[in-house]
Amino acid sequence: MVSMNNAENTNKKVEVCILAAGKGTRMKSSKPKVLHPIAGRPMLQHLVSTVQSLNVNKVHVVVGNGAEEVKHAFQHEQVNFVPQLEQNGTGHAVMQALPYFEESNRVLILLGDAPLLKPSTIAEMLECECDLAVLTVVQTNPFNYGRIIRTQDQIIEIVEEKDASPEQQQITEINTGVMIADVKKLTGWLERITPENSQGELLLTDIVKMANLDGDIVKGIIATDAMEVQGVNDFTQLSQLERHYQSSIAQNLMQQGVHLMDPNRIDVRGDLSVGADSTIDINCIFEGAVSLGSNVRVGANCKIIDSTIGDNVEVKPNSIIEGASLEAGCSVGPFVRLRPGAQLGEDVAIGNFVEVKKTSMGKGSKASHLSYLGDALIGAGVNIGAGTITCNYDGVNKHITEIQDDVFVGSNTALVAPVFVGEGSTIAAGSTITKKIDADTLAIGRGRQKNLSNWKGPRSK
Ligand code: UD1
Ligand code: CA
Repeated sequence: MVSMNNAENTNKKVEVCILAAGKGTRMKSSKPKVLHPIAGRPMLQHLVSTVQSLNVNKVHVVVGNGAEEVKHAFQHEQVNFVPQLEQNGTGHAVMQALPYFEESNRVLILLGDAPLLKPSTIAEMLECECDLAVLTVVQTNPFNYGRIIRTQDQIIEIVEEKDASPEQQQITEINTGVMIADVKKLTGWLERITPENSQGELLLTDIVKMANLDGDIVKGIIATDAMEVQGVNDFTQLSQLERHYQSSIAQNLMQQGVHLMDPNRIDVRGDLSVGADSTIDINCIFEGAVSLGSNVRVGANCKIIDSTIGDNVEVKPNSIIEGASLEAGCSVGPFVRLRPGAQLGEDVAIGNFVEVKKTSMGKGSKASHLSYLGDALIGAGVNIGAGTITCNYDGVNKHITEIQDDVFVGSNTALVAPVFVGEGSTIAAGSTITKKIDADTLAIGRGRQKNLSNWKGPRSK
């Protein structure tokens, strides 16, 4: 008996069913397995984003262990959560979702713990003219995976490790867990699977036997990249996928012309765009949306989060930059902390141990050493001396410090906000400024020095 009408299959709409109810026992973690991150995003997020980039109809996620946590993490996504109250196996998991599938559609089944599947591989599977397509891969060490029993063109059976004979255990072609099936047929196959196996569960893999009994066409598509289909069962595998993923990001950056001092020592957890002729030294981490202009130099050990960095900027080693924007020609670091709302105009220079928060600085202004600048509006050409502090917090509210163009702030100045410093003024070193300073004024706010002569200090006996 040969299946009829399967040529129509590739025209059918596709729904996606991601299995994510399992416990992830081998992670030994209280966090649901699919929420563990690769490149800063939950494993499940990778799959959801991948399928959303394809032309699919609906995405169902089967949840059980940690269901509430998973749902909460994905509340912003257009997915249908299907509860699986008891984890009776991958077949049982798909059965929970059956009522939500449209009978005339096809369904793409994915395992939530295999996050790096590529859209191109899914697209290739969707082209398969068959009733059931199984994505397989050849593994030098196939231990613990479902083995593929096949003729040239047809998969006859998938045998799990625990049910495999010694001969079957020698087979190196294994089931990745990714399948595409006709919904109507899938329903019929699942109705007949039983828990008569070593695991006592309803195994999705048993639908292959049923399909063969019905004379349906079951094809295997062999993945060429083992990492793409690699599942994560423990932190060792999670770290392997993380390195693999990071390495592909690093390769892409280098192909775009970015000079990475060492592609093995960069971590991108988000979207990083980099202009031409830029260099990134070792051990830098980029999180969220970061854009670097051209000819940017990032020194070793920097962390840059959700920030925009203009052309010709130098970020010296050990700087932490978050939610900041730096215009062209700035120089920051080493050991600088730019916090959210730091806005540096052209050619601003920030030196070691300076913290900047919710503060704008105009063209060419400088704070070279040891300062805290918070809630401040600083004009152009301003020099902030070493040890200057904006006292922005009165214990309840935050207040603003405004410093106009071309002001010189002497070292160790405390600016008690709210306070205003007019254009062209100078503040003497060691001042505590509590009152408004007009333009072109010298402000001195410190105790006068007194010298007592012939002073004999205490001596030890
Ligand atoms: C499964 C396959 C095996 C394949 C391997 C690839 C079955 C029976 N075996 O084995 O052939 O080689 O993946 O990695 O399908 N899940 C549920 N509900 C359940 C059980 C599992 O949602 O009741 C989910 C898990 O959360 C996980 C996925 O299904 O995301 C796979 O389950 P897991 O127990 O890891 O299957 P494997 O033993 O790895
Ligand atoms: Ca698994």
